[in-house]
Amino acid sequence: MTTIGLIGAGHVGSQVARLAVAHGYDVVISNSRGPETLSALVAELGSKARAATSVDAAKDGDIVVVTVPLKNYRDVTIDPLAGKIVIDTDNYYPQRDGHIAELDNESTTTSELLQAHLPTSKVVKAFNHIYAAELTTHGQPAGTENRRALAIAGDDSEAKAVVSRLLDQFGFDTVDAGPLKEGWRIQRDTPGYGPRRTAEELRKDLAVAKRYGDK
Ligand SMILES: NC(=O)c1ccc[n+]([C@@H]2O[C@H](COP(=O)([O-])OP(=O)(O)OC[C@H]3O[C@@H](n4cnc5c(N)ncnc54)[C@H](OP(=O)(O)O)[C@@H]3O)[C@@H](O)[C@H]2O)c1
Repeated sequence: MTTIGLIGAGHVGSQVARLAVAHGYDVVISNSRGPETLSALVAELGSKARAATSVDAAKDGDIVVVTVPLKNYRDVTIDPLAGKIVIDTDNYYPQRDGHIAELDNESTTTSELLQAHLPTSKVVKAFNHIYAAELTTHGQPAGTENRRALAIAGDDSEAKAVVSRLLDQFGFDTVDAGPLKEGWRIQRDTPGYGPRRTAEELRKDLAVAKRYGDK
């Protein structure tokens, strides 16, 4: 059985935890303030969930979701995540995260920053362009007509295949946006960021996305 570790248990982390438990996974949730502050969420999630420190969530997760404000990505523990699939939901909001020069000059992307921080982990960008609330309301069974699609990006094809299967279980089609360096195609202010899209629509959105410097 796969355990999903969550580093961050806010809007997105709590929703991914709900989806994971609903689909039979064990979850270990964590935040910055400590496991004792997560007792209400653990009680809601039931016996398949427990709270831990973020280091223990990283250690115990077979797959680990990093879902923190981007400004805190450097706090994410490194060694326990070695070799693991790490799903990155983070987005860059300068008003929240402060200015990050490499993102402002578009020499890198948010998930590439996390990948550089976690050099031996297999970072897959996912869940970044859907409103947290919709994670538990927009999923539909595989094969449903006009099913919602979510984009992923990553440099490891096996890791992307694992995340695609997870998304399928959670109720979503997957569109592969390519390697991490293409993740900007689904960043804030691109056409696919936010609205409900089928796979076909999302592919078109990714194709016409423009970087800030090209707008
Ligand atoms: N909200 C959305 O609809 C949405 C959708 C897609 C993607 N995103 C992106 O996903 C990320 C998370 O968004 P969110 O809305 O879920 O944020 P949020 O509600 O503010 O939750 C952030 C979580 O991260 C935890 N955290 C912060 N610093 C940490 C650290 N150093 N170590 C461990 N945990 C830490 C917080 O714990 P404490 O509360 O204890 O500090 C909290 O549980 C952001 O980058 C956001 O842009 C958001």
